[in-house]
Amino acid sequence: METENFCKRLPKIELHAHLNGSLSAASLQKLNCLPKDIVKYQKLINLLPTEKSLEECFSMFKMAHDAVNNKQSVYLATKYVIEDFYNDNVVYLELRTTPRSEENMTKVDYIESVVKAIQDCKESITVKLLLSIDRRHDLKASEQNMELIINMKNQYPHIIKGVDFSGSPLVGSFNSNLFKQAIDNGLLVTLHCGEVKNVEEIKQILQFRPNRIGHGTCIHPNYGGSEEIWELYCTTNIPLECCLTSNVVCGTAKNYETHHLQEWIKNALPFTLSTDDKGVFGTNLSKELRLAVQHLNLTHEDLWKITFDSINYTFATEEEKTILKRILQEWKLTNHF
Ligand code: IMP
Ligand code: ZN
Repeated sequence: METENFCKRLPKIELHAHLNGSLSAASLQKLNCLPKDIVKYQKLINLLPTEKSLEECFSMFKMAHDAVNNKQSVYLATKYVIEDFYNDNVVYLELRTTPRSEENMTKVDYIESVVKAIQDCKESITVKLLLSIDRRHDLKASEQNMELIINMKNQYPHIIKGVDFSGSPLVGSFNSNLFKQAIDNGLLVTLHCGEVKNVEEIKQILQFRPNRIGHGTCIHPNYGGSEEIWELYCTTNIPLECCLTSNVVCGTAKNYETHHLQEWIKNALPFTLSTDDKGVFGTNLSKELRLAVQHLNLTHEDLWKITFDSINYTFATEEEKTILKRILQEWKLTNHF
């Protein structure tokens, strides 16, 4: 089977996708996003790394936030994003989003609209929700958000599975006590870690031992980290959510060939391939897998194995994991590759 076809047809596992960053230009249009904003959105991926900053990449989210600002549009946005992943043969999706209040919508409304769209999803795809704590918010606001997240998790325990720590890595700081509360209340934790050089914070995050980390760009000493934090990371066995295109488009990785994932491959460390913000970065999961074959010399067998192993890193139940493993094994048998 040729690579493009293989990557498209493989039943896939997506563990790092931000709801509002995953909206395609077509979905934004359906949500009445301003045409000039859509053009700007589509232009980002074509700019050279030297022509844009990390801040500029982050400014893209405002456009989606302006279009997704009431219960109905949050519901529709969630449906569109799930449909896109389903159409790309993703069989298990963990969607993450930051609870947001707007003029006509409370944070509870926001979360309930996302949950409702997940519940109404008729396609054969399993979807779980992770709620994000934004780095921009101060400790008091984050504590209030964490309380809300825990309450909502208690209401929808089969859908809300975890907490994420995200937002611009240029602001804010990690607070371990805050995330300990999440663990104490039965939530799993994934933390964006080391998107920019910040040895002290990376050390704090690794010592906290989250269930997964996102990006992990500046951990290895050759990529802005240090021997100490790399060795620490290697002892933890924490799976990395790797987002190739996101890193290259944002300029935190120079190119695909020299991407820090090479260190994970070389040292047989656990990782999963993800899209991050497929709308903003003009990608999808099939494409991310294809890029890993093209630029990082992974084989089809490697992709199947990475996908199969990713099932163990999900926040799904053991029963759900067993079903997913069966899907992957049967696919392998029927496709003889
Ligand atoms: P939302 O949480 O569904 O509104 O998705 C967009 C939000 O996700 C952004 O405003 C950021 O806070 C966060 N986000 C998206 N991509 C990244 C990333 O690569 N690093 C850190 N935060 C991100
Ligand atoms: Zn992310």
